[in-house]
Amino acid sequence: SVMREASGIDVMEAQLKSIFQIQKVVIVSGDSDETPWVKTELGRACASSMKKLIMGKNIIAVTGGSTMAAVADKLTPDFKSDDLLFVPARGGIGEEVQNQANTICSKMAANTRTKHRVFYVPDQVSNEIYTSFMKEPMIKEVLEIIRSASIVLHGIGDAITMAERRKTDAKELEKMRSENAVGEAFGYYFNEAGEVVHKVLTVGLQLSDLDEIPNVIAVAGGSSKVKAIKAYLQKAPSQTILITDEGAAKGLLKGY
Ligand code: BG6
Repeated sequence: SVMREASGIDVMEAQLKSIFQIQKVVIVSGDSDETPWVKTELGRACASSMKKLIMGKNIIAVTGGSTMAAVADKLTPDFKSDDLLFVPARGGIGEEVQNQANTICSKMAANTRTKHRVFYVPDQVSNEIYTSFMKEPMIKEVLEIIRSASIVLHGIGDAITMAERRKTDAKELEKMRSENAVGEAFGYYFNEAGEVVHKVLTVGLQLSDLDEIPNVIAVAGGSSKVKAIKAYLQKAPSQTILITDEGAAKGLLKGY
């Protein structure tokens, strides 16, 4: 639209797409750190991208977080398909209930009048729990569903913010700081070069599984997430669609 061209948003979208070599970039006006309703707009933009993408049967794996919760709020029943199944991408118990993938998936299903699966697994597990959980038929079944997803919807977090939200112990936090962790997605922590410097043991989608997923939609905005988003995009799969805001986009373009 004229408005978007006038504000240079179209140009920024094209620049980011070419810099980071991803499928598509959508930028909404404003900065969600400064104006809370911008996060609502991220949700709306994600919903509209999903509508363009979805036809027929789709399994959609979803992570947690307040941004994903904003996406859930903006979904409506007017999808071209009613054969959708929302499933948590990984265990998420430990986050605040409204930000847990289980809660978000159930809201997504309710708002689109489709289905969801629950995955009652903690955000982080010990080695012992991991090994025994992986033997559980019900867990195995959900893992199969997650891996066969056609769309993954996920948030990106600032590394230290996420580590604190996960009540990471002081020693581990110190290690992450010394290794310059700046970004987080799917329980993986990245440095500015996009290298994984730390990972929480998690049941569910692993970073290496993303290559097999036809569409990956990353939704993250706010100027405080610039480093995090940039880190994640260094090695993000080429089928990634990034939904972000102007506050983050401007920071991402600095130096290019
Ligand atoms: C968490 C995910 O639930 O939300 C993280 O496990 C993600 O991978 C984070 O980075 C993003 O949260 P928010 O509230 O900034 O959207």
